[in-house]
Amino acid sequence: MVRFVTSLLALSLSATVLASSNTITCSTSKQCPQDKPCCSQYGECGTGGYCLGGCDAQSSFSVDSCAPMPICENKSYTWDNLDNTVLNTKYLGNASAADWTYSGFPKTQDGNLLMTMPKNSVGSLFANNHYIWYGKVSGKIKSSRGKGVVTAFILLSDVKDEIDYEWVGADLTAVQTNYYWQGVLDWHNSANASVTNEDTFKDWHTYEIDWQPDQTQWIIDGVVKRTLKKSDTWNATANRFQYPQTPARLQMSLWPAGQKGNAQGTIDWAGGEIDWNSQDIQEKGYYYATVGKVDVTCYDPPKEAKKTGNNAYVYTSDTAMEADVAITGNSTVLGSLAATGLNMTYGAHSGSSTATGSDSVPTNMGGTGGMASNGTNTGSTGTSSGSSSGSGSGSGSASGASSTGFSQGTSATKGNSAPAQVERVLQGSFFAVLVAVVALVTL
Ligand SMILES: *[C@@H]1O[C@H](CO)[C@@H](O)[C@H](O)[C@H]1NC(C)=O
Ligand SMILES: *[C@@H]1O[C@H](CO)[C@@H](O)[C@H](O)[C@H]1NC(C)=O
Ligand SMILES: *[C@@H]1O[C@H](CO)[C@@H](O)[C@H](O)[C@H]1NC(C)=O
Ligand SMILES: *[C@@H]1O[C@H](CO)[C@@H](O)[C@H](O)[C@H]1NC(C)=O
Ligand SMILES: *[C@@H]1O[C@H](CO)[C@@H](O)[C@H](O)[C@H]1NC(C)=O
Ligand SMILES: *[C@@H]1O[C@H](CO)[C@@H](O)[C@H](O)[C@H]1NC(C)=O
Ligand SMILES: *[C@@H]1O[C@H](CO)[C@@H](O)[C@H](O)[C@H]1NC(C)=O
Repeated sequence: MVRFVTSLLALSLSATVLASSNTITCSTSKQCPQDKPCCSQYGECGTGGYCLGGCDAQSSFSVDSCAPMPICENKSYTWDNLDNTVLNTKYLGNASAADWTYSGFPKTQDGNLLMTMPKNSVGSLFANNHYIWYGKVSGKIKSSRGKGVVTAFILLSDVKDEIDYEWVGADLTAVQTNYYWQGVLDWHNSANASVTNEDTFKDWHTYEIDWQPDQTQWIIDGVVKRTLKKSDTWNATANRFQYPQTPARLQMSLWPAGQKGNAQGTIDWAGGEIDWNSQDIQEKGYYYATVGKVDVTCYDPPKEAKKTGNNAYVYTSDTAMEADVAITGNSTVLGSLAATGLNMTYGAHSGSSTATGSDSVPTNMGGTGGMASNGTNTGSTGTSSGSSSGSGSGSGSASGASSTGFSQGTSATKGNSAPAQVERVLQGSFFAVLVAVVALVTL
């Protein structure tokens, strides 16, 4: 889940984090204004990066404010280097140039990807830039470990349909499976899948999500652990299937759900408060989750899907159900960070393709798109008591002038859910942060 609770986040922000006053928040009941038409995954309005991965068509100025979404590609990913990845501050929507955007502290080791979470940081997040509109994703993964530490491998659509695997580091014998439709919290959606006689941290396992139009299966090492039938998600009152059905991105992350200051429900779900002096922190300097080969297989889109091209998915209505998605030839690439789905080429030749303002690249508050960070930790929220997903990372203070908050997942506690949007917490020079992050990453 990727909603946030302002008060919780605010509470958990460190003193060095300043909330910016000119942030415009957005939600499905409060769309963005025309000049900052895109509602980011974190519920804030802007242009550029706000219009890319995670841009919520239902909360944006209009259904075409977000940039079209790069279409599914069959592909296998291995990790000899990070050449096919890009920091989200540099990404303008060209998925052919970079398969993943990331934030945090990735490393490669023996052909594997290490998503790390150094002491007091907010972890790492990888989001695939190619959307999937039904398909199978498979990841060879070793989870992280320790109470309060959550590893995630999820499919997340821009309107918050979601299918999850989440490993809570306090229990290495199981992985939690979960799903959401348009971010609606339902406590019955979660289930545990055991990883028999094994340890999810020490042993490699292959975790698959087989997402089809009529059913979803969670498969571990070739064994079907859970099947969700679309027919079982019918809501007779609303006359609709509350089943994940919109183009989604694969996201992998490691995050501190048990960070002090998070909602108590989130900390409890994560197995307790995180220990920043754990064995892994002492020996390696960070918590880590290891990712081996990742495979994506695209299934055919629904037969009824409107198809006028082969480059991008677009929403045709803010109802954002399966029938409201079309496949088009539209470009997915923005001309600059000032461009939006309303004018994709705006600023293309002005040379302003680097992050210049705080409302052109979403501050990484977790959930999904984020930018890298050395967070002096900040807020993080988990999903509603006990189901959370998403992830992200914050951007840290590099120059001492800026620091950002980070949060992932939703937070709303059971029975007390009032998700609101988080405040923007980045203030200061994005460029300094970027430089610092690049330095960290290339070390
Ligand atoms: C997609 O392309 C069509 C035709 O060129 C255009 O009318 C429409 O505005 C584009 N949509 C977006 C979201 O860019
Ligand atoms: C996207 O990147 C690819 C590979 O770098 C390049 O060939 C292509 O021209 C780019 N497309 C756009 C629209 O910038
Ligand atoms: C999954 O297992 C954890 C303990 O490991 C437990 O707290 C949680 O309630 C279980 N969830 C479900 C849905 O059974
Ligand atoms: C079914 O739809 C109704 C009307 O929108 C809504 O109030 C209710 O919460 C939905 N049920 C579930 C289980 O989501
Ligand atoms: C991906 O691969 C599957 C199975 O091999 C095939 O059916 C499908 O058409 C391919 N899709 C794309 C977009 O290449
Ligand atoms: C998009 O912005 C450019 C300026 O960069 C402008 O010349 C062009 O007319 C705009 N297009 C539309 C459709 O508004
Ligand atoms: C984050 O920044 C602080 C001070 O700016 C520094 O002390 C700390 O080592 C950094 N953490 C990481 C993981 O780089």
